[in-house]
Amino acid sequence: MAAARPIPAAQADASGGVITDLGSVTPLVVAAMERTPDPRLREIMAAFVRHMHAFAREVRLTEREFETGVDFLNRIGQATNDTHNEGILFSDSIGFSTLVCLLNNGRGGATETAAALLGPFWRMNSPRTENGGSIVRSETPGPALFAQCRILDPKGRPLEGVTVDVWQASPVGLYENQDDTQADMNLRGQFTTDPDGRFSFRSVKPAGYPVPTHGPVGELLRAQGRHPYRPAHLHVLAFKPGYRTLITQIFVDDDEHLRTDVVFGVTEHLIGDFRRVDDRDPPQADTGRPWYALNYTFVMEPGESVLPRPPIK
Ligand SMILES: [Fe+2]
Repeated sequence: MAAARPIPAAQADASGGVITDLGSVTPLVVAAMERTPDPRLREIMAAFVRHMHAFAREVRLTEREFETGVDFLNRIGQATNDTHNEGILFSDSIGFSTLVCLLNNGRGGATETAAALLGPFWRMNSPRTENGGSIVRSETPGPALFAQCRILDPKGRPLEGVTVDVWQASPVGLYENQDDTQADMNLRGQFTTDPDGRFSFRSVKPAGYPVPTHGPVGELLRAQGRHPYRPAHLHVLAFKPGYRTLITQIFVDDDEHLRTDVVFGVTEHLIGDFRRVDDRDPPQADTGRPWYALNYTFVMEPGESVLPRPPIK
């Protein structure tokens, strides 16, 4: 019987061919996708394949590890439903969401930006709330927070008519959609800035919370010896036609996990001045001392105003 002839590497080129050795796989796959009509899809998939292949080479991925990885991806999908987005959580937990955020804001990452990741808990249609109104919609423990915020353009001029969504976890560490004891839309509200660019609301001081750890991301965190906590924060999404939609978070400055956020969301710019007040009464008399005051100014850049797809319903 004649010995099999070795296949020349030259056959594995852009005109198609078969795999000859380890080195021929990547160019063959990239070549097979070269006729993709959409140039951006072509660019993204070529880079994705090159980097995925380089990753497998670098760690010399075993077949058992490959199976584990595919199973991990499948289980991310299975753990995702209308009220939980494990895919966003995974992306957040490896710093990828923040990386993409910084690439796309603050003049392409060249300057510090006020943007931060959306996270998995934004819901559309938060209740419209008057300025100064409360977003506490059911019995919620914790010291009162009075927030006075302002939105300016890059030249420091106030922006009127900005629609601002605010949402936060309760002091027990759960968003209302995770917690049957909270009213629907508790600690969520939608405001409109006044002619001076201001919006204000009453809430409770946010507390830190662990990200959901019941799924594959939780397994990964445990395997890595990482804690699952986020430092306490308020989420803000500001929308005005003609301006880039501002998605951000304001962090509580005295939180123990401020420097070790499990999802890498904290930048210096986003650490708020949550001032504890012991020596004077709050703006509304029905709460005791201490209470907290937050003053924060946001800047919106001119640009395209697009709303993200809500991660949950
Ligand atoms: Fe959050």
